[in-house]
Amino acid sequence: MPHRAPGAPGHQPGPYLSGRPITYYRPRGSAEVRHLIDGGFQAFNAGRLSEACHIFTDKMLDPANDTTIGLTVAGALTPAGLGGCVIEMMDRGLIDFVISTGANLYHDLHYALNFTLHRGSPFLDDVELYEQGIIRIYDVLFPATVLLETDKYIRDFLVRSKLSGPIATSEFHYRLGLDLLDRNPGCEEYSVLARAAAAGVPLYTSSPGDSSIGMNIAYHELMNGSTLMIDPNRDVNEVCAIILGGTKNGCVILGGGSPKNFYLQGQPTLWEVYGIPKGGNDYFIQITTDQVVWGGLSGATPAEAVSWGKVNPGVLPDTVVAYCDSTIAFPLFCEYVVGSGHARRTRRQLIHQRERLVADLLKQAKEAAASPKEIIEDEPAEVDRHR
Ligand SMILES: NC(=O)c1ccc[n+]([C@@H]2O[C@H](COP(=O)([O-])OP(=O)(O)OC[C@H]3O[C@@H](n4cnc5c(N)ncnc54)[C@H](O)[C@@H]3O)[C@@H](O)[C@H]2O)c1
Repeated sequence: MPHRAPGAPGHQPGPYLSGRPITYYRPRGSAEVRHLIDGGFQAFNAGRLSEACHIFTDKMLDPANDTTIGLTVAGALTPAGLGGCVIEMMDRGLIDFVISTGANLYHDLHYALNFTLHRGSPFLDDVELYEQGIIRIYDVLFPATVLLETDKYIRDFLVRSKLSGPIATSEFHYRLGLDLLDRNPGCEEYSVLARAAAAGVPLYTSSPGDSSIGMNIAYHELMNGSTLMIDPNRDVNEVCAIILGGTKNGCVILGGGSPKNFYLQGQPTLWEVYGIPKGGNDYFIQITTDQVVWGGLSGATPAEAVSWGKVNPGVLPDTVVAYCDSTIAFPLFCEYVVGSGHARRTRRQLIHQRERLVADLLKQAKEAAASPKEIIEDEPAEVDRHR
């Protein structure tokens, strides 16, 4: 063990790891939950969650709307066992691409590699935990060796994969997911990374250096002389191209953080930078604990997003923020969706469409550059939402 690793030799983890393993819960479309949401969730944030369920199932999943759907994931959701909801939604074709913090994908690897995270308590002595070599994420507990073993897997993968040069995070996570499927067949049932690779769903990370995955990529460069480089420009263009390619666009935003903006900046990238008048999102669902009053992007409302061209003017009835803990609200939301009449779509397999979509972005951007639209200061630009 490195000298800073917690857990001095001779210490046993004591009773801390005796809690039940955390597993990935898979929503099954419970009729009782649908009954509760339709009949019992009537006002305040219960009412907003019910509204979110209806916007998603009745509008975003309506085949006539052909909505390209992005999911953004912030907060420690895979450690809390919410990866199963994401797996179910990807498997059913209900989520077309994902933007996540690196942490959620890193902690997903523990499940893929069959390490155990335990249910615990948020009221523990952290100095004692440190001495006993136990890591705590609020009330989720696991041995520090899980971190070390997961890091070792990432570094082995980096060497075995021979990945080099600049790549998008979508490509990096796809290759990582394929490796997991290869080495641990069947793990797509309990790994977001593996399921995304199997289902062709691109996974992006908005801050790739800011997680243990990024930390191990940095190690690979310094220690092995690797030229592998996560290229955020590719991510920006791919996400932009996916949004451009959508007939309608909609998102489900869990928490806030940089994944929220990384998704929402797609439309401004199109109109503000590339001069392509695509228009903003048609549907916007956010489940968050973030507040609007602090002025940050995490708590910014869909109404504010209209001013940036992130959300289409005129579609505010199709936007909703439910101020809830996503560890409660998202499983309920997914139960509702899975039990709905629109619970399965043909998967778009966007991971295999990226080259074509970016080529189309380039073509349209060049056309826009060749005949720039004049900006009319007094009136808002007419946006063709249905192109
Ligand atoms: N070992 C690791 O790899 C590791 C571990 C932890 C964090 N990180 C990194 O630290 C950064 C921050 O991560 P983060 O997860 O705190 O995300 P974040 O701070 O970017 O976003 C969290 C956002 O979601 C909201 N949120 C959090 N929990 C919520 C909940 N239960 N319900 C509703 N909303 C909720 C918060 O209010 C906040 O706006 C990321 O870049 C991440 O990759 C890395």
